[in-house]
Amino acid sequence: MPANPHNGIENNLPQRGLLVAVCSAKGGIGRTVLTANLAAALSSKVKTCIVDGCFQFGDIHLALDLQPMFSIKDVIEQIETIDAESLWHYLNRHDSGVRILTAPPRPEYADLVTVEVLDKIIGLLQSKFHHILVDTMSGLPEHTLYFIEKADNILLMTDLEMATLKNTKMMLDVLTTLDLRHKVHVVVNRSTMQSVINASDVPQILGEESIIYIPNDFELVSKSLNIGLPFVMKNRRADIAKTILTMAEQCCSMKAANIYEPRNISFVQSFFNKFKKQKVRA
Ligand SMILES: Nc1ncnc2c1ncn2[C@@H]1O[C@H](COP(=O)(O)OP(=O)(O)OP(=O)(O)O)[C@@H](O)[C@H]1O
Ligand SMILES: [Mg+2]
Repeated sequence: MPANPHNGIENNLPQRGLLVAVCSAKGGIGRTVLTANLAAALSSKVKTCIVDGCFQFGDIHLALDLQPMFSIKDVIEQIETIDAESLWHYLNRHDSGVRILTAPPRPEYADLVTVEVLDKIIGLLQSKFHHILVDTMSGLPEHTLYFIEKADNILLMTDLEMATLKNTKMMLDVLTTLDLRHKVHVVVNRSTMQSVINASDVPQILGEESIIYIPNDFELVSKSLNIGLPFVMKNRRADIAKTILTMAEQCCSMKAANIYEPRNISFVQSFFNKFKKQKVRA
């Protein structure tokens, strides 16, 4: 994964933090597990924060055994006057050093999260953190579209189930149409699980050569979720932990390969609005 071209990692503060959107076409694929563990792995090297982008039913705080004091709703209530210093106080701290901006306490507050609010919050976080990881909602709802458009890197997760691969392929097609494919890194989670489809078939199925494989380890992952402690912290020798620690190394050390000019956000929104209008007319 390319490191942030704008990042002064050697300095204490970044010039502009790297935004990583952790996505999947279907739910239950492992976005929260990857986000929590990759963030914990990164935070031993650079300043890292998580935004729980599942604004209706976010649960990343459970994977980290946190009882959130604040959420994005509290930030939104102060949005007119908030600056990087005051935003800091609304971030929940995990023992790994990761800071977390949790989702609103109730699903109906998700509507308060507008593009303007996100622009301000993400901009402020990028001035304070080297990496900002977003655990997004599955599929392509509007909030996820915002993050994939804005992200420097998109981790698109799949597993070996036929239906997930079918939807992942469609999502890749959409990302290609939106001219965002260059930011995508496909991650096959649970790649060693028993399935009709082998992990080695995935590059051909998805038309994607460069793939990150995360092994299956049901016991370790469920134990880690149940106690709320990322496995990269206490089980570094497990294969699954080694994979994610390597991903974190790559995030920090590889040379930048995807310097790009962010496209106006309205392009992505208008692309989907066009389809919505066509549907209404039909
Ligand atoms: N590599 C893995 N090996 C074994 N089990 C895994 C692995 N990754 C995730 N899981 C299991 O898959 C389930 C779903 O994981 P997770 O909650 O991270 O998915 P998600 O994509 O965030 O789901 P949701 O759409 O509900 O937010 C969890 O019960 C977890 O134990
Ligand atoms: Mg999740």
